[in-house]
Amino acid sequence: MAERTAFIGARVVDPASGRDEVANVLVEGGAVAAVGPDASLRGASLVDCHGLVLAPGLVDLHAHLREPGREDAETVETASRAAAAGGFTAVAAMANTDPVADTPAVVEEVRSLASRAALCDVFPVGAITKGLAGEEMAAIGEMAAIGVRLFSDDGRCVPTARVLRNALQYAKAFDAVIAEHCEDPSLAEGGQMHEGIHSYTLGLTGKPAESEEIVVFRDLALARLTGGRLHLQHLSAGGSVELLRRARAAGVRVTAEVTPHHLVFVDEDLVTYDTNFKVNPPLRTPEDREALRAALADGTIDAVATDHAPHAVEDKEAEFDQAPPGTIGLETALAAVLTHLVEPGLIPLPRAIEALSTAPARILGASGHGGPIEPGRPANLVVFDPRAEWVVEPPFVSRSRNSAFLGKSLRGKVIHTVLRGEPVVGDGKPRR
Ligand code: DOR
Repeated sequence: MAERTAFIGARVVDPASGRDEVANVLVEGGAVAAVGPDASLRGASLVDCHGLVLAPGLVDLHAHLREPGREDAETVETASRAAAAGGFTAVAAMANTDPVADTPAVVEEVRSLASRAALCDVFPVGAITKGLAGEEMAAIGEMAAIGVRLFSDDGRCVPTARVLRNALQYAKAFDAVIAEHCEDPSLAEGGQMHEGIHSYTLGLTGKPAESEEIVVFRDLALARLTGGRLHLQHLSAGGSVELLRRARAAGVRVTAEVTPHHLVFVDEDLVTYDTNFKVNPPLRTPEDREALRAALADGTIDAVATDHAPHAVEDKEAEFDQAPPGTIGLETALAAVLTHLVEPGLIPLPRAIEALSTAPARILGASGHGGPIEPGRPANLVVFDPRAEWVVEPPFVSRSRNSAFLGKSLRGKVIHTVLRGEPVVGDGKPRR
């Protein structure tokens, strides 16, 4: 990028500073140099952004990068390119790799892969328990000492209250966050989809909403008991939202996320046995979806997180009960939220940006991301066209193509993603 670049005429939406106005943003030496309707453009190369939105780069609290271990499905490099194409400047990389990220060595391996090739900042998540086995605590202290902030056994729930209590208690010493995949294994085992009328008619084993709610209840109680910081991952059930709302009102230190696919799809979408709708936790009822949307709107749920879960074609094309759960999401998250929540007026655009950027950056401790867009701050930015319509179809930037949004028409297209002043995506395409 030229020494000085000015993005001119965009609607600048920056929840961290409260700014929402048409303005110019001047970037120089990797940082924001000026912002405002009258920011000086002298000597800068101009990027016309009239009709576009400029916001802090998106931040994903929940992505599966699959490296090390399943490089056939995704790598740190390909996931980071998909992230950048989707407007993300930072992603949290889940620990369920092979080997599991339960030691500083695996965390450092992911970091070094990212430093060589990534088009966004990658924040490795540490496992809560060794090998995700739910028994012995992982090296949380050692991983926290090298800067890991979020710990999760995602893909699996921490099965016993005792282990989760110890983790919450221990993580407190490092101000680390324990992020939980809430699903009682004894109740969810063998389940293929949400348990209800559609699982009965499709002849698929169900997982009741209670398999999530029971763990949400347990974990909120343990967060209250320990004073530790709890983050609830990919909430799917209205009952969980009610428990969360009450706990927040009572002052429990808890945050929560919801995925775009749980905000858009429901259990009935599985009638075609399309394995791209097989996700964990499962898509639930329209009432659950309404509750999730309302909770995102009023801030009970802090963040939208993708749960980007790439799987190789041959794995996803298996029989429904053999196919692994998961949908990719980095390239569609922003457009899904714009199309299904902002356009119909369910949430205002600044709240959407807060949920996709400012709030997750705060939870992750990703300083320099999520705004504010102010002089001296790193220029981590996204520019998108909120009206551009496109159909989700291959090729994807991700190495995998198991998208629940396949064939769907969405509105909202990323035009530029800027990482510390560098244009990593330009005119909608990753630059390298
Ligand atoms: O759908 C999912 N896929 N949910 C998870 O919790 C794990 C993830 C994966 O790793 O594939």
